[in-house]
Amino acid sequence: MFSVLPDQPQDKILAIMKLFREDARTDKIDLGVGVYKDAEGRTPIMRAIKTAEKKLWDVEDTKSYVGLVGAEDFNDAMVEMVLADAVSRDAVASAATPGGTGAVHQAFEMVKLASDTATVWVSNPSWGNHISMLNHLKIPNKKYRYFDNGDLDFAGMISDLNSAAPGDVILLHGCCHNPTGVNLTPAQWQQAVDLLVERDLIPMIDIAYQGFGNGIDEDAAGVRLVAATCPEVLIAASCSKNFGVYRERTGIFMAVSNTSKGKAKAQASMAHLNRQNFSFPPDHGARLVTMVLNDPELRADWLAEVEAVRVGMLDLRKQLAAELKRTTNSDRFDFIADHRGMFSMIGITEEQVKALRDDHGIYAVSDSRINIAGLNAETVPILAKAIADVL
Ligand code: LMR
Repeated sequence: MFSVLPDQPQDKILAIMKLFREDARTDKIDLGVGVYKDAEGRTPIMRAIKTAEKKLWDVEDTKSYVGLVGAEDFNDAMVEMVLADAVSRDAVASAATPGGTGAVHQAFEMVKLASDTATVWVSNPSWGNHISMLNHLKIPNKKYRYFDNGDLDFAGMISDLNSAAPGDVILLHGCCHNPTGVNLTPAQWQQAVDLLVERDLIPMIDIAYQGFGNGIDEDAAGVRLVAATCPEVLIAASCSKNFGVYRERTGIFMAVSNTSKGKAKAQASMAHLNRQNFSFPPDHGARLVTMVLNDPELRADWLAEVEAVRVGMLDLRKQLAAELKRTTNSDRFDFIADHRGMFSMIGITEEQVKALRDDHGIYAVSDSRINIAGLNAETVPILAKAIADVL
């Protein structure tokens, strides 16, 4: 049986992780997978998470199951963090999931439960796993234009979404678009929401980097506007990056409904889908996140650390754009300073990305996505020189 299993397509992010690991060069630079790194190249456990973990060691007295949709206080704290007062808590069905990817998966499955025909529209480009999971689940999907020459192709996006059929699902990135780093302005969010409502399209928002763009509340402005306006919204949120709990697999799937029947159906489906796919969601990371969000001191410390991470990445963006201006003698890469979050798609060819890797030991994803947090003051000029070299 195993011998007839189909060959699986390679995930380009995981492929780069592997190549990087296997490279023996000591001066190699990893700008591949979306994991935050400090100036020393470490992915630290955040201070507040470490403190919560110590406390938890003292107070946790069982590892028994929590609940099929996770712990209520985790769900409440996350709904509050993402949606604040955009909608009443009663309007939100929610379930803890194994990471943000787990939430995206459960949301896709819910779409499939509700409709055989709904097409899920995904930005071009998007995080590779979006299309890959949709294909895996055999859910019809299409791409809408999003990015052109370092900038948002908003006209293309609106034009493509105008051809979506009522009931189709439109997948939007809440903030810090992965892989491009280009985001909608508040006015564009409003225009997109108007279109969604007018055309009876269902928004699904993937928010994995809240706090890494313009701030915790600023980064949630789009999702809050959508939730407050559209009758039904699917939301997948991740705690991997902004709480640094990557391997704990901590995320949440939310469904906002403007009817109590819709909310109740969504909640029951979430419990069912959790049960079918993995039963009880992991709790360790969720517990730590809850402790941080619900303890004013820990929360303040966490917010300060997220802010330092955000500002550090913005600073690196400015340094890189300036260095590239110098090394390429052009303003071609100025957009990097304007983008937000962990990633920018720098718009070089796959061959040039390969040359960066082969000739300079610098690892970017093949679509030219770089992880800004993989840089530091020392490696910014090295990267800028290497990019000028491969152009
Ligand atoms: C990324 O985009 O690199 C991260 O979200 C990690 C992943 O699972 O792909």
